[in-house]
Amino acid sequence: MKKLRLGVLASGRGSNLQAILDAIDEGRLAAEVVVVISDNGEAKALERARLRGIPAIHINPAQFPDKHTYEEAIVETLKQHQVELVCLAGYMRLVGRVMLESFPNRIMNIHPALLPAFPGLHAQQRALEYGVRYSGCTVHFVDEGMDTGPIILQAVVPVLPDDTPETLADRILEQEHRIYPEAIALFAAGRLELRGKRVSIKEA
Ligand code: GRF
Repeated sequence: MKKLRLGVLASGRGSNLQAILDAIDEGRLAAEVVVVISDNGEAKALERARLRGIPAIHINPAQFPDKHTYEEAIVETLKQHQVELVCLAGYMRLVGRVMLESFPNRIMNIHPALLPAFPGLHAQQRALEYGVRYSGCTVHFVDEGMDTGPIILQAVVPVLPDDTPETLADRILEQEHRIYPEAIALFAAGRLELRGKRVSIKEA
């Protein structure tokens, strides 16, 4: 079977990138990570990619006059590697028009909350402060908003009375690592159908 060509954008630790690579190794995901790009030269995600011989490229936004030209450089790199699906995995920037228009409905993100609750930064801490009983994570297609795109998969975890932002984040992260590869696999199998804001999952 033809493998889906993934480009991963990450700014930090890269545990979701690792989960994607592990799912590929274990035969749960018919895909191939063909390039990893980071806006942060120190990102551990770049190191994880290099360890596996995957091209790991730092594109420094500070070296571009504006977001438009920065994103043009990202798109050029993604296209050079013939990327079919872009996966944001802890990429800490809002995706702009250049990327969206180059990969329409072909950019996914994982967010550590049950969207549309708690979009943006520090989602776990804000969920805790709000006093919700359940939180979780969401895989969604990316649109021009901040964590507002069509929802693909979600997983729920309980919030426990003595949780700290860290313990809650860890519980959520475990689910992120499960559902992100799963969502990508659904995309790879052509099973995601987008109508307006809604994503339906077709039978295998
Ligand atoms: C994850 O919690 C993800 O949901 C959020 O940023 C974090 C990235 O973690 N978007 P990692 O770099 O994948 O370990």
